[in-house]
Amino acid sequence: MSEKKAIAVLTSGGDAPGMNAAVRAVARAALCKGLRVIGVHRGYNGLLNGDVFEMNLRSVSDIIHRGGTILYTARSEEYNTPEGVKKAAATCRELGVVGVVVIGGDGSFRGARDLTGQGILCVGIPGTIDNDIACSEYTVGFDTAMNTAMEMIDRIRDTAQSHDRCSVIEVMGRRCGDIALQTGIAVGATAILVPEKKFDLEKDVIPRMIATQKTGKKHFIVIVAEGVGNSADIAKYIERRTGVETRLTVLGHVQRGGMPTLRDRVVASAMGYKAVELLNQGIGNRVVAMNNGKIVDYDITEALNMERVFDEELYNIALDISI
Ligand code: F6P
Repeated sequence: MSEKKAIAVLTSGGDAPGMNAAVRAVARAALCKGLRVIGVHRGYNGLLNGDVFEMNLRSVSDIIHRGGTILYTARSEEYNTPEGVKKAAATCRELGVVGVVVIGGDGSFRGARDLTGQGILCVGIPGTIDNDIACSEYTVGFDTAMNTAMEMIDRIRDTAQSHDRCSVIEVMGRRCGDIALQTGIAVGATAILVPEKKFDLEKDVIPRMIATQKTGKKHFIVIVAEGVGNSADIAKYIERRTGVETRLTVLGHVQRGGMPTLRDRVVASAMGYKAVELLNQGIGNRVVAMNNGKIVDYDITEALNMERVFDEELYNIALDISI
């Protein structure tokens, strides 16, 4: 094995557009700093199975514009055991890997913290369409997912308008309503239902629809974040109470694919570069984040203990103007 120090890079959890741009930045920045780079397939599973490969400058050519992740991704049950973490650390030592860049969400960062506990420095990069990482105002993939959702909903609006219907649209976001909130504003939704805000259909949605019906409105868009649950029941309830023919569309995984937007490519590149800078200085157990538009970093444990703040101001704006 060469004397050069190596860093590894992996993507873990749900994929997100822009992950490839982050992988590219990590590989290029590390190689330019004289480090070796090991690509790890299928998240932490690759460290358990030795499914890894040596990367060079060309390994990441022509990927910045591609959705998904060239490294593949997985959620690993075996890794989430003390034995699994030790086995992964042993693989790193055999490969001469001193640091690992982990691109993913909260679950992936817990894995990174555990691996750092075994002496392998790790730095996390927030990569998830949900924008649900408390320490960062932005996660790689969020902008692409929102723009995809917006485009799809614009199409649904055309047919909702032609038929004088209500379209209930479920967007992704298990614990976080950010995709719903921002796309809801962008498409002029009559109501936006998110897991962070309690709601009562009878008080918060039906009167709003009836009031706007009286002003001449005949078609409606209602956005429901996945984490709210029961979007089919919500659609049925709306139809029964308003008399407006209602259809449900679950956007699903279409939101996770496709070419990353400019914002996702640029943020991913800056975050990937920062992760390598930290590891190259011998600093681990950090999460790279965005704060007031700047790239910063936090201790992983501190980051995992932070509470996400929902954008109440934007939510209230949406309520006021969706009439
Ligand atoms: O965390 C990203 C996400 O797309 C969530 O919005 C969604 O709930 C989940 O992943 C879906 O996961 P899977 O692809 O495993 O069904």
